[in-house]
Amino acid sequence: MLDGKKVLFSGMQATGNLTLGNYLGALKNWVSLSDEYECFYSVVDMHSITVRQDPAVLRKRARTLYTLYVAAGLDPEKNCIYYQSHVSGHAELAWILNCFTYMGELNRMTQFKDKAAKHADNINAGLFTYPVLMAADILLYQTDVVPVGIDQMQHLEITRDIAERMNNIYGDIFTIPEAYIGKAGAKIMSLQDPSKKMSKSDENPNASIYLMDDADTVMRKFKRAVTDSEGQILYRDEQPGVRNLLDIYCAVRGISPDEAVKEFAGCGYGVLKEAVGEAVNAILQPLQKRMAELEADKSYLDGAIRANAEKARYYANKTLRKVQKKVGFPERPR
Ligand code: TYM
Repeated sequence: MLDGKKVLFSGMQATGNLTLGNYLGALKNWVSLSDEYECFYSVVDMHSITVRQDPAVLRKRARTLYTLYVAAGLDPEKNCIYYQSHVSGHAELAWILNCFTYMGELNRMTQFKDKAAKHADNINAGLFTYPVLMAADILLYQTDVVPVGIDQMQHLEITRDIAERMNNIYGDIFTIPEAYIGKAGAKIMSLQDPSKKMSKSDENPNASIYLMDDADTVMRKFKRAVTDSEGQILYRDEQPGVRNLLDIYCAVRGISPDEAVKEFAGCGYGVLKEAVGEAVNAILQPLQKRMAELEADKSYLDGAIRANAEKARYYANKTLRKVQKKVGFPERPR
């Protein structure tokens, strides 16, 4: 609890082009929860360097991501929006948590296995201990709730396990966080292969809708989306492509799959694809306009970045000092 409110933490990597999956699975929920909770939203640039990055590109993408958080509707005066690398407590807590995390637990992480397979020439220790840094992000703010897409559930589970393990040894030092998974949009799939999640790192640009895609590109990608030869619009496992389009439509419009199926009864796939494209454009167009406005006002965001880094450091240090004391580090001279 912070100032009588529960605490929310979440973050996104500043790697690759943000997709509609990131928006519907996470960002959209962040905005809808932001009044109810005391919120920390991080641009997790330290996680990004677990795969090789061009430094100038990473810096630019981190800034774009920060801008996107604000453009999506998160007020940086009410929400603590900051770069992870500006708060050294993340790395310091991660070290301590590393010493309470087992190799066997990390070996089971599917994201590690996937990324190690993709970057076989660079399986670094950071990639392996990635979930521990993520646990530090969350635990540092005594977080109650973490809104994420389904792909992050395993990381949330290990975070809870580490926190419970340390609480058992030292008494209650950490709040045990819960995941928040939205009703719709928690797992948006690739438009070209609906058995795979839509991902920033997909090499086929037609597989993903990028948040910065223009209206024509969005429409073209939906028109090319892989469906099936059943010819009827139903929400079921046997039709993963159609189900994905319905999921996107439901998440954007805030309706249930039943309602969507009723709406498209008797329609062909062309009608569905066009309706989804229009619905998505109706959210992306204003988002892109707001991005451009914010990018033009450099000093506003610079001020927010400075003030929020300080705020994040203040709360991070409170937890960090408590943990350092519990594990036996000497008191700091004042
Ligand atoms: P990242 O950057 O891969 O993704 C950011 C958020 O977007 C969600 N997401 C999706 N949701 C639905 N459908 C999809 N196709 C899809 N693709 C991505 C993710 O679930 C995530 O919520 N490790 C995290 C970043 C992180 C973090 C944290 C998150 C670091 N520390 C602490 C929460 C709390 C990651 O790589 O997310």
